[in-house]
Amino acid sequence: AGSPDNLLAISTQTGAAGVVEKVQLFSLSAILLTGVGILANRQRHGGRARRPAIALLIDSFALGLLLATTLFVVANFEALSPAFRPVQRATLLVIGLAPVVFLIGLLDARLAQSAVGELMVELRANLAPADLRDALARALRDPSVTLAYWLPAFQRYVDLDGRQVEVPDRDGRATTLIDRDGVHVAALLHDGALDDERDLLDGVTAAAGIALENARLQAELQARLEELRGSRARVIAEGQKERQRLERNLHDGAQQRLIALSLELSLLEQRLTTDPEARTRLDQARHEIALSLEELRDVARGIHPAVLSGHGLEVALESIVAQAPLPVRLLIELDGRLQEPLEVAAYYVVSESLANIGKHAQATAATVEVARKRGQIVVEVVDNGIGGADTESGSGLRGLADRVEALGGRLLVWTPTGSGTRVRAEIPCA
Ligand SMILES: Nc1ncnc2c1ncn2[C@@H]1O[C@H](COP(=O)(O)OP(=O)(O)O)[C@@H](O)[C@H]1O
Ligand SMILES: [Mg+2]
Repeated sequence: AGSPDNLLAISTQTGAAGVVEKVQLFSLSAILLTGVGILANRQRHGGRARRPAIALLIDSFALGLLLATTLFVVANFEALSPAFRPVQRATLLVIGLAPVVFLIGLLDARLAQSAVGELMVELRANLAPADLRDALARALRDPSVTLAYWLPAFQRYVDLDGRQVEVPDRDGRATTLIDRDGVHVAALLHDGALDDERDLLDGVTAAAGIALENARLQAELQARLEELRGSRARVIAEGQKERQRLERNLHDGAQQRLIALSLELSLLEQRLTTDPEARTRLDQARHEIALSLEELRDVARGIHPAVLSGHGLEVALESIVAQAPLPVRLLIELDGRLQEPLEVAAYYVVSESLANIGKHAQATAATVEVARKRGQIVVEVVDNGIGGADTESGSGLRGLADRVEALGGRLLVWTPTGSGTRVRAEIPCA
């Protein structure tokens, strides 16, 4: 036989060569099909596709592979020959479209690049830490982006407000760790589809470097503040418990014993009918005991106002106002009792302020107001004295501020010289 005009001619003529070619065609088809399978699998596990251009590129490539495979198979079987032409046309069409799809992908990559450029510009303009996340989300074109800053001192991730963030997160987003100079700074939680664009991710995270470090510092500050607030509240609560315990001990111990002693003396006195001098001395002793009891009660009240726990803020305030050395107007607008820490704080604001007025103000009158206003308890003590109170010099006002701030509130003091003093505590309440 002469030399054949083309390769296909061999396969139709010689038996052995035909078998070889069939084997070749089959293995090629198998390889192509495997490629299609891999692509399909990736598509299924890649999460929601966020980058349409990339998805299009991959899909059209898969379609091209699939059609090429079909073409090989069709070419192999005599029975399928009528399908050969249409499949061939479709394959050529898809392959012909490839440059267009590729161009779209290229354009998309360009867009992504310009997004990084925009990010650089934003970063150079001193982007505020609060806006960093949004800028990254725009550059990555993934609105779901979350930034979690690493705090080595706390061994956990937090957001900008210092609140803990779970990494990796429960929604199953992908995590990219961001280091700077070998030190871990933050974790970026983002859509899994972005894993296909390592370059973009690396570019964006590298560009954000210093801004990320700044934001991390802010997050750390917030976390420390939060911790401080918590520990201050705990210290004050602990102190309060200790005071309560002391008061209880005084009440149940020394006070009860003095009362018993006083009764004992009364009984003795009744028996002493003959010696009038002894009777007077017993009477004196009883009087001394009564005075000691009174003093002890004052001490106990200073340590912890038992009347507060027993009868509530209103009664407790009435009792200190009654003991004040000047006329005090008391206005209370509360419906029912408050939480104990709130009552205790309000009580101390009033008692310390009234004590200050007695000691320093040279006032002739004062007003105490306690009211619930817009989710806050407002305690205000006003006098008409000389003013000039100093929140830093003594421990009284400073201590009040600590108490009030530990409950998330604030203490304000207006004290113009010569026109009285106004102490106002605002404490949030549920
Ligand atoms: N109502 C007031 N009128 C005038 N001066 C005041 C008043 N309250 C406080 N002060 C001034 O502010 C200072 C600080 O008060 P405080 O912190 O309670 O400490 P302390 O009462 O132990 O001196 C007082 O020493 C006093 O000079
Ligand atoms: Mg004082």
